[in-house]
Amino acid sequence: MLMTDLIAKKRDGGELSTEEIRFVINDYVHGKIADYQMSAMCMAILFRGMTDRETLDLTMAMVHSGDVVDLSSIKGVKADKHSTGGVGDKTSLILCPMVAACGLRVAKMSGRGLGHTGGTLDKLESFTGYNISIGEKRFIDNVNRIGLSLIGQTADIVPADKKLYALRDVTGTVPSIPLIASSIMSKKLASGADIIVLDVKCGNGAFMKNEKQAWELARSLTRIGKLAGKKCAAVITDMNQPLGRAVGNALEVKEAISVLQGETKGDLLELCLTLGGCMLIGADITEEMEDAQKMLQEAIDSGAALDKLAQLVSAQDGDAQAVYDTSRLPLAPVQLEVPSKISGYLSHIECEKVGLISMHLGGGRATKEDKIDLSVGLVLNKKVGDHVESGESLGTIHAQTMESAQEAAQLLRDCCTFSNAPVEPPKLIKDIIV
Ligand code: URA
Repeated sequence: MLMTDLIAKKRDGGELSTEEIRFVINDYVHGKIADYQMSAMCMAILFRGMTDRETLDLTMAMVHSGDVVDLSSIKGVKADKHSTGGVGDKTSLILCPMVAACGLRVAKMSGRGLGHTGGTLDKLESFTGYNISIGEKRFIDNVNRIGLSLIGQTADIVPADKKLYALRDVTGTVPSIPLIASSIMSKKLASGADIIVLDVKCGNGAFMKNEKQAWELARSLTRIGKLAGKKCAAVITDMNQPLGRAVGNALEVKEAISVLQGETKGDLLELCLTLGGCMLIGADITEEMEDAQKMLQEAIDSGAALDKLAQLVSAQDGDAQAVYDTSRLPLAPVQLEVPSKISGYLSHIECEKVGLISMHLGGGRATKEDKIDLSVGLVLNKKVGDHVESGESLGTIHAQTMESAQEAAQLLRDCCTFSNAPVEPPKLIKDIIV
């Protein structure tokens, strides 16, 4: 087989066979296909697309480029969740303990934040001592014992994606549905869960800027999951403003705890109940979304979900007391209110830019090697649709210095647009694809 022939075949709109796709991935991972040829292939895929069969073959070839985590020694139904990345997205911190409290098993490998989006591992490290590398044995033992464990990637999972994603990033070939879908699903399938629920974000703070793109990606992700024999659902959710109110690692942990304590409701709780509902239905614990959400709400009301979070933190060497006393979490030395200079209805928030404010305060990474400050970020006081009086606070900046806080305050004002007429708040859950 010659890579030049395969590139030409895809360029001309042909369909690659299973063997051809395996050849491309295998030889690329083993350094037998050069980056320039793989770039041309990615560009041909971007323009020509792939059939469902080709996308599944690509995904499976990527899965088998590395280790597949064996969760068979965990008793019970294993559920996993993936978000395509958003601002203020702390759902895993709420959802995982909540569904574990309802009897599901969560053996989850999470990632770190990059750019304007945050990562669950960084957030968990806000608990002093939390260990993300407890090794595979403790990972499995913890899930069997307390129902959940959240760690960083251990095994050599999907090396093909690491190499391909780095290439796509510098060759303008990230925004291709089959390439994104195979990248996401290869990692999820290699992580071994029985149920995969996907949160596909859509809007100005997300990868997918419009609903049509988000719907196509959601459909492709769920197809791959099902064809691979998994229970799979995707929820398309609004990302035209941060999820909840906090953006920044320890601040998001505090907000997640407040949801688990039953004190914070709103969009964040709604999303966790919806994603959790899809998981419980996938596990056949219940058939109806309403019943599933009642069970999840009961896990909050009884304190079981909050206790699960404390068990998780404790089982991974972290300061579990901080779950019940959030003053033990990192706190930035400067807190600055941001009074609005305008009166009106908040009509638009530049969501991605809000994520970047937190990053520039030190809360996010520009490159994978950057060290981050867990204490900084911001907490919004207003969401789209809210009325704001001039002088009223738009939010609070948490920073290391007054100078950086003042800079961030102006940036936050610049992210907000107002209207004189009332504005309908955006609908959070746009669609559920099962
Ligand atoms: N997230 C991934 O893991 N892969 C992509 O290609 C895009 C987003």
